[in-house]
Amino acid sequence: MFDLAPDPDLPKPQQYAELARSAASLVTGEKDAVANMANIAALIWLSVPTLNWAGFYRVIDKELVLGPFIGKPACIRIPFGQGVCGTAAATGVTQLVPDVHAFPGHIACDAASRSELVVPVMVGGMVRAVIDLDSPRPDRFSQEDAEGLEALARIVAEFL
Ligand code: SME
Repeated sequence: MFDLAPDPDLPKPQQYAELARSAASLVTGEKDAVANMANIAALIWLSVPTLNWAGFYRVIDKELVLGPFIGKPACIRIPFGQGVCGTAAATGVTQLVPDVHAFPGHIACDAASRSELVVPVMVGGMVRAVIDLDSPRPDRFSQEDAEGLEALARIVAEFL
């Protein structure tokens, strides 16, 4: 297709700008949300180093339900307010967790996960999904990662 992964030598904000451009290009002309989420999960996996899980949970009937992802099989349903994903869904606020073991109620889908970043996808002021990244490295995610993923979430919001 085309060169998907950003140049790892660029500063992180530029890498995320490239990632957003690739994501926008991948979903252009396609309305199927599952197909688009699957491609964006794959794009994140190729572009963001040191992950052991990358994917989506969708809001269905007031709970989170597993969506397209790459990584080990994960818990299928997460109630609002539970775990890192449920906290992001309940608050609409990005959760940047440097140490998952210190997060009350963290749900361990993969025992290798040590840090986590969960970004809500907002449509019309409501959380419609979350993007979840897990890393085996403690303190893997920075504010730049959070802002990069929030930009991706705005692209996802356009097709959800
Ligand atoms: N750790 C998440 C659960 C989802 S998995 O990481 C894929 C949580 O605490 O909500």
